[in-house]
Amino acid sequence: MNLEPESYSSQHIPLKSVRHFVLEMLPQLGWNQSSKEDIVLDVGCGPGGTTYQLVLPLFPGVKKIFAVDLVPVAIEFAKKHNSHQLIEYSVANFEDWSNLKQWEGQITRLVSVYCINWLKDQRNAFQNVFKLLKKGGEAGICFPIESAFYDAILKVQNDPKWSCYLKDVENLIPESHHKKYDSSFYKKMLEAIGFEIIYSRNEVITDVISSDKKYRDFFTSVFVLIPHVPSDLKEELKHDFIKELLRLNGRNDKGLPLFTSNVIELVIRKL
Ligand SMILES: C[S@@+](CC[C@H](N)C(=O)[O-])C[C@H]1O[C@@H](n2cnc3c(N)ncnc32)[C@H](O)[C@@H]1O
Repeated sequence: MNLEPESYSSQHIPLKSVRHFVLEMLPQLGWNQSSKEDIVLDVGCGPGGTTYQLVLPLFPGVKKIFAVDLVPVAIEFAKKHNSHQLIEYSVANFEDWSNLKQWEGQITRLVSVYCINWLKDQRNAFQNVFKLLKKGGEAGICFPIESAFYDAILKVQNDPKWSCYLKDVENLIPESHHKKYDSSFYKKMLEAIGFEIIYSRNEVITDVISSDKKYRDFFTSVFVLIPHVPSDLKEELKHDFIKELLRLNGRNDKGLPLFTSNVIELVIRKL
């Protein structure tokens, strides 16, 4: 996938709902106790804002926090702007076990925020989570399973104005969006892999974004169709995409842009 780390991080959200999951829900489930022996892995850390602002405060005394992402420029950005002695950032494709096997059976806590939705084979990703965790280790994972973000992508991709460039382009829309999976689908899959489900829920969440500029910067930074149009049309494509996204999501009574998704939150333990 493409990711523009400068635009993504200029509005490093983290969304209020993500903040609530990591800083309130996970501690309630026992994630506020960590030891010097613990090794944490943040999967799909992007430019490192979430790792630094949310994951690090959760694990102040652990041995190491490894944080991986597919996109090299995101990791470069993270090393430059979100570094800390406990955090080690590196490039890794979470879909490719050869990138991960160095941590097999060693991870005590695995965190992943808004990344699993980008992966083509989610079952394989959860199997990798299982193999990485130590026995009794836990993963706290949240990601959108259905979103107006994907509807806006589909609308623009199929618009006759853009379809000559975008018709057959891979849009990375997850199966969960098309098939309307909910937490019961994931529970079944995870139990079959061998996890105990500690917590699982999916809920339609609406986040308020504090300005139009932040909204535009953030959502265009992860808009996967951009690389597929000629350079002189990229700004127009971004404009059309944001217009559609805003049309679908609306604004609150103060005129601020909204973003609505059906988000799944999971805390799972390797038995
Ligand atoms: C929406 S961002 C979330 C970043 C970060 N967790 C946060 O909360 O800001 C999704 C991230 O998943 C990463 N990603 C997508 N596919 C990946 C893969 N196969 N392996 C590792 N990371 C991946 C992207 O590069 C991107 O940085």
